[in-house]
Amino acid sequence: MSNKTVLITGTSSGIGLATAVAAARSGWHVVATMRDTRKSGSLEAAAEDAGVSVDVHSLDVTDPVSVEACLAGLGQLDALVNNAGAGHVGTLEQESVEDVRAVMEVNFFGVLHVTRAALPLLRESKGRVLTVTSVGGVVGQPFNEAYCAAKFAVEGFMESLAPVAATTGVSVSVIEPGAVASEFVSNAGLGNMPDMGPYAPALFAYLERTRNAFANAQTPMDVAQTLVDLLAAEQPAFRVLTSESACAFAGTKVKDLDGSAVQKLTRAWVS
Ligand SMILES: NC(=O)c1ccc[n+]([C@@H]2O[C@H](COP(=O)([O-])OP(=O)(O)OC[C@H]3O[C@@H](n4cnc5c(N)ncnc54)[C@H](OP(=O)(O)O)[C@@H]3O)[C@@H](O)[C@H]2O)c1
Repeated sequence: MSNKTVLITGTSSGIGLATAVAAARSGWHVVATMRDTRKSGSLEAAAEDAGVSVDVHSLDVTDPVSVEACLAGLGQLDALVNNAGAGHVGTLEQESVEDVRAVMEVNFFGVLHVTRAALPLLRESKGRVLTVTSVGGVVGQPFNEAYCAAKFAVEGFMESLAPVAATTGVSVSVIEPGAVASEFVSNAGLGNMPDMGPYAPALFAYLERTRNAFANAQTPMDVAQTLVDLLAAEQPAFRVLTSESACAFAGTKVKDLDGSAVQKLTRAWVS
C-alpha cells in the first residue's frame, strides 16, 4: 500500500486530521492539505505520536488556483477524500444571500473544484473519490438551511457523477456522519449569531436539542476508521453512514414519501 497516495482536504482538525493519521498508519502516502499551513501543529503532533509522517500542503477548496497548484505537483493520486467543510447556523430572513453563497462556496463548490482537478490523475490510477457529506445531506434540519442545501447539492452531484466516473474506472462514494465531536460546532460561529427576531425562541430550542445530540457524538477517529476502510475496500459502496444513529436518522427520510415523518421530527426540535 505504501506506493499509494491519498489527498485529504481540511486536515487541520477533526475528521480530516484523524483520517490523515489513520491513513498514514495504514500505509498510505498522505497529502494532508489545509488552507492555512500555520495550523499544521496538531496534525504533525498527532502523526508523530502515531509514529507516521504526512506531507502537509496548502489548499483552500474555495480557491481554484490553490487547488490546481496543489494537484499539479503530485504526479500520482490514488484516492481523494473531500473532507473540508464548515457548519453554519441561520435562517433566510436573518441573514444575507451572500452568507448563504459563502456556505455553498466551501461545502459545495469547494468539493467540485478539488474533484475536478483530481479526476485526470484518478482516471490514470483507477482511483476513488470519498466525499464527507452529512446526514444533513439527506434530511433538512432547522437553522441549517444553507448547510443542508450545500450538502444536498453535493449528494446529488456525486450520485449523478458516480455512474459516469465508473465508466473510466473511478469509484465515487459519499460518507454521511451524524454528530461528531470535532471543532465543527465551535467553528460554526454560534457566538456571533445575528439578532434572530421572531425566530429567537425556535433557535433557543434548536440549540438546546443540538447540545443534547452532541453529548452522544461519535469521535473523529471513528469516522476516520470508516474512511480508511473505504480506501482499502475492493468495491466501496456509494453511500456509507458512519453510525447507527446516523442510519436511523437518514432512514426516516427513505420511507417518508410525503415528508410528514421528517416534519414531525424536526418541528419538535424547534418547539
Ligand atoms: N462534526 C460533525 O458533527 C459533522 C457531521 C456531519 C458531517 N460533518 C462534515 O465533516 C467534515 C469535517 O468536519 P469536522 O467535523 O472535522 O469539523 P472541523 O474540525 O471544523 O474541520 C473542518 C475542516 O475543514 C477545513 N476548512 C474549512 N474551510 C476550508 C477551506 N475553504 N479550504 C480548506 N479547508 C477548509 C477547516 O480548516 P480551518 O481550520 O482552516 O478552518 C478544518 O480543517 C465537514 O465536511 C463537515 O461538514 C461533520
